[in-house]
Amino acid sequence: MTISPAKPRVLIVGLGMIGASFAKALCLSQVATVIGLDAQVGVAEKARSMGIVDEAATFPTLTTPFDVVILAVPVLAMGPVLTQLKPWLKADTVISDVGSVKGAVVAAAREVLGDLPSGFVPGHPIAGAERSGLAAAKSDLFDHHLLILTPLPSSSPEAVQVLTRLWQSVGADVVTMSVARHDEVLAATSHLPHLLAFSLVDTLARESENREIFRYAAGGFRDFTRIAASDPTMWHDVFLANRDATLSILRRFQADLDVLAEAIENQEGATLKSVFGRAKSARDYFTEILSSRQRHSDDTRKNLIAAPVRAGLKGEVTVPGDRSISHRAIILAALAEGPSELRGFGNGHDNRTTLEALRKLGVCIDVDDSGCVRVAGVGRQGLKPADSPLYMGNSATSMRLMAGVLSAQPFSSELIGDASLSQRPMDRIQVPLQAMAARIELAPRKTAPIVIHPAEALKPLDYSLPMASAQVKTALLLAGLCSGVSMRLQEAGPSRNHTELMLAELGCPVQFDQGVITLAPARQWAGFERDIPGDFSLAAVHIAAASLVPGSELNVLQVGVNPTRLGLLDVMARMGARVQLSNYCDLGGEPVADLQVNYAPLVATDGTADVAGLVIDEYPLLFVLATQAKGASRFSGVRELRYKETDRLKTMVEGLTTLGADIELKGDAVIIRGQNARPLDGGIVDCGGDHRVALAFVVAAQTALRPVIIRNSGRVLGAYPDFAEHALALGYSVTVED
Ligand code: S3P
Repeated sequence: MTISPAKPRVLIVGLGMIGASFAKALCLSQVATVIGLDAQVGVAEKARSMGIVDEAATFPTLTTPFDVVILAVPVLAMGPVLTQLKPWLKADTVISDVGSVKGAVVAAAREVLGDLPSGFVPGHPIAGAERSGLAAAKSDLFDHHLLILTPLPSSSPEAVQVLTRLWQSVGADVVTMSVARHDEVLAATSHLPHLLAFSLVDTLARESENREIFRYAAGGFRDFTRIAASDPTMWHDVFLANRDATLSILRRFQADLDVLAEAIENQEGATLKSVFGRAKSARDYFTEILSSRQRHSDDTRKNLIAAPVRAGLKGEVTVPGDRSISHRAIILAALAEGPSELRGFGNGHDNRTTLEALRKLGVCIDVDDSGCVRVAGVGRQGLKPADSPLYMGNSATSMRLMAGVLSAQPFSSELIGDASLSQRPMDRIQVPLQAMAARIELAPRKTAPIVIHPAEALKPLDYSLPMASAQVKTALLLAGLCSGVSMRLQEAGPSRNHTELMLAELGCPVQFDQGVITLAPARQWAGFERDIPGDFSLAAVHIAAASLVPGSELNVLQVGVNPTRLGLLDVMARMGARVQLSNYCDLGGEPVADLQVNYAPLVATDGTADVAGLVIDEYPLLFVLATQAKGASRFSGVRELRYKETDRLKTMVEGLTTLGADIELKGDAVIIRGQNARPLDGGIVDCGGDHRVALAFVVAAQTALRPVIIRNSGRVLGAYPDFAEHALALGYSVTVED
């Protein structure tokens, strides 16, 4: 199928609350031309006059072409509406809907269309309100709400992509899951609660004369029954359409209610306490997920305003503990036998995510005021099943490493992530873990949620990694360690070797040389103490900025200088940068040094393909440096950047182009014609919530002509909480806009 044009024509059928809100948001963001159609006479025309749609249509006059159709009608009306639409559908029309039951929509489509077209991808925004009518349409209804797509085996990736873009452009966080899983999940989390609310309010209303009982009802009743004010017709549709899934959870709930009734009757306090205790812990976890989602989205939405500086950057700084080493240290400490103590543990969100996941798996972890983390290791067989899915936020390292650990456990687990993480490829760990006989399932687009079932016993592995990836090799080594099997891994290119170094320090039987890593069947290791060095990737921000701003001279103290992380310094040395290392020491097998950086004029460079894995997280900074160097630089072999927190090739090329850089993407190579220190311009750029991209734009702004506003860059503070303070002390010009 052909991909829809840059500005597709989207037909929205049904201008109720959801349809009209989606139309309004699309119209305002101007990413699509929106055509509105509604069964009720005059509604579409009125929506046009209110600016909710660009064009109004009716079925008899539907002669205008469209690329995408969104069915925003009640679930039981999907079939009849599709029948009316059928004559206008082309082979490549993208078809989706917003219904809260997916199985019934698929069945209706099959009945009307026969073989399902490749453009058909059912969808469901998890957003709504009790109000209705065009006037209630809210353009921000989907902002930071989930949109679930349920691609079918017949759905094309292009159609999924078109819909993903449309929903993302109205602020939704897009995730995918199967039709059956969607209907099960929604039956439990939405449909059953509505049924209970309707039923409870009805019971009480019938019991109480003149409904006077409601006058005495307090907050608990109000919270529990708010949804009983929802549209009865719509909910009648939902229950008829999702009969099996709702009945199954309803029957289980009825049985559980009977247990409670019996416990009350027989005065069995212990039963009540244990049910309530389990429920409270689950609800506390849920509250935490909600608030961390809220925190993350609030953070992400902040803007950084970075402006050109007048004088050089000067001073000394100590950056937070290394993120990669912290992830590995805390996982290995949790799986060790006995207590461990980690000093200088990374203080960013991602490390916190791994820490919280391990707590949910039954590991006691204390963090004192100095940031020292004490872990009561449970041994590699001592983890306990979590009582609900493990939320991995934005952290792919947490997700992939923990998937390795959990594949070797005798219980099931589910790993979920935020919208960005839910788009990132997870088949890179699934394929080799399955080769070890792990039972690991992904969503249809090979992304999270990851569901892991207990496997009989994992098998030894001999595997060539298709890409240079420290996360993949670490996930496999952790699975091997936990299950005591041997493995041989051949790397596709060099990548950070913190895991190998740490395992060797802990006495695990690992060897690594020339890109080949072998692990013999491991025995249990003991708890350990560890000082974690400063994070080179955060130090790199200051190194790049000081190299760029004339008159700069600064020192970054006690940074990890493991050669597998220093690709940036090698490339910068070729470009003429002045960075000196001194005060070497060793912290648990990791080399550490102070870095002194002075401003230096830069020249262009070429060819980083074979060492791309050693530069990986620092490419955004390197691209910025290249814009200011003399001559044309070319960075090839950087395809992996597409799979990071954002597609970093796209976000960097777009942002630097906005700032006036001459940067071009040729296949998977980036070509930058440097401006020989001619400043970049200012402007508004969007880092898409990616902290490394945001920090690269902060660096770019230090020598720009005008300020740079970096949208969605609040995650910088999650990744490097002291950044604003450190930047101020060193002389940067950067402020956080709330
Ligand atoms: C990391 C490995 C790299 C890197 C990421 C952290 C790790 O990812 O980009 O920030 O800690 O193992 P890949 O292994 O996917 O390249």
